[in-house]
Amino acid sequence: MNGPSASTRYVHVSGWGNYAPAGILTNADIERMVDTSDEWIVSRTGIRERRVAAAHETTASMAAVAGARAIAVAGLDPDDIDLILLGTLTPDYWMPSTAALVKEAIGNTRAAAMDVAAACSGFVYAYSMGHAYVKSGLARHVLVIGAELLTRFLDFTDRGTCILFGDGAGAVVLSASDEPGGGLGFELTTEPQGAYMIWLPSGGAKSPPSAETIARGEHYIRMEGKETYRFATRTLASTAMTAVERSGLSADDIALFIPHQANIRIIEAVAKGLGLPMDRFYVNVDRFGNTSAASVPLAMAEAVDTGRVKVGDRICLVAFGAGFTSGAVVVEWTADPARGRAAASIDPAAISVRLPVDWDSVDPIPDALAAVLARPGKVDVPLDDVVPGEPEHAHPPHVG
Ligand code: ACO
Repeated sequence: MNGPSASTRYVHVSGWGNYAPAGILTNADIERMVDTSDEWIVSRTGIRERRVAAAHETTASMAAVAGARAIAVAGLDPDDIDLILLGTLTPDYWMPSTAALVKEAIGNTRAAAMDVAAACSGFVYAYSMGHAYVKSGLARHVLVIGAELLTRFLDFTDRGTCILFGDGAGAVVLSASDEPGGGLGFELTTEPQGAYMIWLPSGGAKSPPSAETIARGEHYIRMEGKETYRFATRTLASTAMTAVERSGLSADDIALFIPHQANIRIIEAVAKGLGLPMDRFYVNVDRFGNTSAASVPLAMAEAVDTGRVKVGDRICLVAFGAGFTSGAVVVEWTADPARGRAAASIDPAAISVRLPVDWDSVDPIPDALAAVLARPGKVDVPLDDVVPGEPEHAHPPHVG
């Protein structure tokens, strides 16, 4: 493309959007599946409820809605997008990529499209790649998405994991500009000694799916909670601070940290470690649980739409995940937050992902989850979302 040279080309967030399925799984619902309690889950994780995709929804369909919203907020046409990068650990299929399905669903005819596998850090990794494409001049507008459908990969008899995760998607459009601002500094790390602390043993080339792997429950996410917790508290702060320092800033210059929403205690430990008050950290883990690669962009769009981010603010997006991976980006915010209203023009029911001919999937909802969701009289009433350090606010208009 033509335009400013790399040294004068800046990469701004021009659009943002998110999507969360309507189904809500509360801690009370989980109490019906495993030996746990609302009190235990809230005190150990801060999670009160999480969203669950309906049978007709997939990672691609949620990603497409969030992506279309981000494009609408950017004021672009789908065909303005040169590249689609989608961070996920729960793709619709091994192949094609989920990004390819999203490309067609949003009505784009010309972008390159690929998935990025870095678990919960997937969105931040994909953001850094999108930034590099735009900065180098290889692309003008990149759609970066984080999307996950984790509730189909959970063992609802394992109380150590099934309490934590939920479904959703978030997206940004990164655009070239000659005005200063946008992405300022990055840090990405991978520590493979933690490779088997969070993993999904079977289904890949090492252990292809079979009746035996399924009988062993190896198609579900496994996790060493304590080791993961230790890694997270150590790495989130150091990864964020490296990105902040690379931006020529200090922690005091960051108006808002938007961390991976895994556990309120992890976020509180990071705030304490950095000597910062909790009101400098965005928190929505109470309402969405851990949505892996979707967590940071879902939270970021919500933070902007609820007035927590203003033009000129420096914000830090930071994540950690299986791998172990971690990643952080510092962004100088330049877009008018009021533009987020354009996301309302995207109706999820109007976006569809192409289905294969002559093939239909089995019922995708795990039996234990289906039984709880189908319970007569179950009413999805969002619980009070107040958590330490988080001011009360209405549920944002565009999530859902
Ligand atoms: N309800 C009640 N009791 C429970 C539950 C539950 N859901 N889960 C575990 N327990 C019990 C344990 O059996 C144990 O009992 P015991 O003392 O009798 O043996 C006790 O509670 C303490 O268990 P711990 O595992 O020590 O609990 P901990 O305080 O570490 O909390 C948790 C567990 C919430 C999983 C925590 O370790 C954590 O959040 N870890 C980080 C997880 C994370 O962030 N994962 C995301 C990774 S990102 C990605 O890429 C997917």
